[in-house]
Amino acid sequence: MYYLTNLILKQFRNYESQYVEFNRGLNIFVGSNAQGKTNILEAIYYLSVTRSFRTRRDQELTQIGNQLFFLKGVFLKEEFYHVVQISYQRNSPLKILSNNEKVERFLHIQRFPVVVFSPDDLMIIRDSPAIRRRFLNLEISKFKGTYFQNLKEYQRVLLQRNRLLKENRYNSHLNKMLDPWDQALVNVGTKIIHDRIEMVEDLGKKAQFFFNQMYGEKANLTLNYRCSVGCFEQPDETRTKFHGALSEGRRIELKRGSTMYGPHLDDLKIAINGNNTRYYSSQGQKRAAALSLKMAEAMILKEKTGLNPVILLDDVFSEFDRVRKEYLLLFLKENGGQCFLTSAVDIDDLLKKTEKDYKVMAVEQGRIVSETGGLSC
Ligand SMILES: Nc1ncnc2c1ncn2[C@@H]1O[C@H](COP(=O)(O)OP(=O)(O)O)[C@@H](O)[C@H]1O
Ligand SMILES: [Mg+2]
Repeated sequence: MYYLTNLILKQFRNYESQYVEFNRGLNIFVGSNAQGKTNILEAIYYLSVTRSFRTRRDQELTQIGNQLFFLKGVFLKEEFYHVVQISYQRNSPLKILSNNEKVERFLHIQRFPVVVFSPDDLMIIRDSPAIRRRFLNLEISKFKGTYFQNLKEYQRVLLQRNRLLKENRYNSHLNKMLDPWDQALVNVGTKIIHDRIEMVEDLGKKAQFFFNQMYGEKANLTLNYRCSVGCFEQPDETRTKFHGALSEGRRIELKRGSTMYGPHLDDLKIAINGNNTRYYSSQGQKRAAALSLKMAEAMILKEKTGLNPVILLDDVFSEFDRVRKEYLLLFLKENGGQCFLTSAVDIDDLLKKTEKDYKVMAVEQGRIVSETGGLSC
């Protein structure tokens, strides 16, 4: 048993101050556009992951004109209550408290598994490789703390190495100076590459499964990790090739003043029937691929953490026909735990037929104005 029992938002987006209690199963936020439905999903996500799924700039989350926001939520997890409090103040480090004790971010994000699917996830399919790398980075960090730490170390080494390449271009000792940085880059970079390869394999299998169930058997969804140093089964081989690429490419690197090989340049290829979805898929196929990726992530989190992740679905239901809506609800019941949906249209009819236990909250101008339904609220 794992779910969010209640939430307080203060000066978060268009919420001045709100307290709300949740159902342990299904929760639905309804309301017209621009009322605050997605904002509340964003708050739940932030509480678990200390990051928004819409922006990288936390300042945007503070109510316009304010410099701070506060979130407090109580998770029930394996019979224990965890009171999580997050305080953001501009230009100060984020404060995360769990049961009144300070927690490091990388530990916190492994504790409360959550998966979100929102219209913005199309970016994962459509945009540049950096977005897909960020997706992999965050998802692996949710169950593997060492990955998060390796990433931080890699970024530090990369920065130093790039600085050397830029500033010491004409220094005759440059080769000697670079050697230890190459070694460090290859060592930590190889760990990152192999964690990603493992994740992509697992994600690929699960995404294909969901895709076939949801969209029919015909099409084939495949994921492949693309390494700038070449993808190999054994880390030793990757290490050797990575080293080789750095040695061979040094002249070009000096010209450009930056590191040309490594996981910071890799990509995730997402294909339907072999064709890269980024270039060849319709809008609908892109959405389907993105949703499959997210549901695969939910299955992985469940396996890795032993908890059914909290699932947030923003504006998803309106686009599906009845059969798919029903399949999605069934899938969520089997693989997700607590679920939060937003909808601008009424989905009560469908829910009344398929669900017994749910709560509907009407959102208006940054306030929950009514709460109905549900058995175990
Ligand atoms: N930082 C902010 N401060 C105050 N209001 C905000 C902030 N960010 C967004 N909003 C407001 O929140 C509303 C959009 O909320 P959102 O949850 O995205 O709507 P929806 O109900 O359509 O999902 C808009 O009215 C927008 O102006
Ligand atoms: Mg919205």
